[in-house]
Amino acid sequence: MVIKPRLKGSLALTAHPAGCEEFVKRQIDYVKKSDKYSGPKKVLIIGSSSGYGLASRISLAFGAGADTIGVAFEKGVEGKRVGTAGWWNTVAFTEEARKEGLIAKNFMGDAFSDEIKENVIEYIKKEFGGKIDLLIYSLASGVRTDPKTGITYRSALKSTTNEIEGPTINLEKENIENGKMEVATEEELISTVKVMGGEDWKLWIEALDKADVLTEGFKTVAYSYLGPKVTYGIYKEGTIGAAKRDLERTSNELNDYLGKKYHGEAYVSLSKALMTRASAVIPVFPLYAALLYKIMKEKGIHEGTIEQKHRLLKDMIYGDHKELDSDRRLRPDNWEMREDVQSAVESLWDKVTPENFKELTDYAGVREEFMNLNGFDFDNVDYDQDLDLDELAAKKI
Ligand code: NAD
Ligand code: NA
Repeated sequence: MVIKPRLKGSLALTAHPAGCEEFVKRQIDYVKKSDKYSGPKKVLIIGSSSGYGLASRISLAFGAGADTIGVAFEKGVEGKRVGTAGWWNTVAFTEEARKEGLIAKNFMGDAFSDEIKENVIEYIKKEFGGKIDLLIYSLASGVRTDPKTGITYRSALKSTTNEIEGPTINLEKENIENGKMEVATEEELISTVKVMGGEDWKLWIEALDKADVLTEGFKTVAYSYLGPKVTYGIYKEGTIGAAKRDLERTSNELNDYLGKKYHGEAYVSLSKALMTRASAVIPVFPLYAALLYKIMKEKGIHEGTIEQKHRLLKDMIYGDHKELDSDRRLRPDNWEMREDVQSAVESLWDKVTPENFKELTDYAGVREEFMNLNGFDFDNVDYDQDLDLDELAAKKI
């Protein structure tokens, strides 16, 4: 089987296993060549298969020698379908980690369910040495079933003020379209907070605490985004911003609890804007990212997912460069938010048109990163190769 990229809007419909392996290996190489750190030994990552969760797992394993448990919602080969990028990322990570003698255990299923929490806890107790010292919470999901009530909530990427129109990039058609964001109903706002807020993070910590599998000094970090003024309407003042504020409230509750009981810590970390599966579909966001990449590359301060997460873990969480803001949030987005960066983005923002966006922004860079997420556009991968589905299906994680 030969696999070609297929896009629908800014959603990727196919993924390339050999390219996903390359994607993971390049991140591992980056960490191997970078400075190391110590502290994390037994780590649980929720949302471990792509984007920021995957990069964190790679940094922790290859930068600090940590054993890891990953939880993600991905599928391998089924019939003629080759499976998701996150599945193949996980296959590649697991092979490489085990080569180094590290434990890499994976749970593929719904992180919001009680069942997966029970399974992970049982594994920690019986086979993972009994305790974890770090939990990374990096979920991006559109739907959550509340395990207590059985009610299913769907998140809505909507405005909470007024209808917003703005330019956005369509990666399939490679053009700029007018993105529209409608105003959320009260129910949509509540649902988005249910899905993307802090409730499930707290349920994980409560279950792990109750099962007595947290070490003294246990830490937990959840990933969030704030973004600059040009995206406030869609992000900070949108339903997603409300969910992220709920996450921040949760971090403070958890920090108090964990501090008292374990001398532990809980943080929200605001990361830099990057193209991932989750962010590519947010209106306006890809165009902002394309402008930001251009400016940050010109200034020599651009970072990809792995650079962001390695810096967060090595310098801030386990190092002495903890950049906390007045709301006690970790700020690895500090370079994105620099005054000179944002004013350069703003002045370009006013000049961008559907005709000139490929020249004025780093569209090529954003597109390449997006294609790489699904294992495409690597110069050293042979995309004409005929992949054997049976052989791929036999790969276990
Ligand atoms: P992503 O889509 O690349 O990763 C999401 C992960 O969640 C995947 O591993 C997926 O398998 C997993 N997942 C989704 N639903 C699940 C479920 N029900 N059960 C188990 N696993 C499930 O997304 P990302 O961009 O890495 O986002 C992760 C976090 O980082 C989010 O909180 C996001 O807001 C935040 N963040 C993203 C950006 C950005 O620019 N992309 C910036 C800052 C912060
Ligand atoms: Na992730």
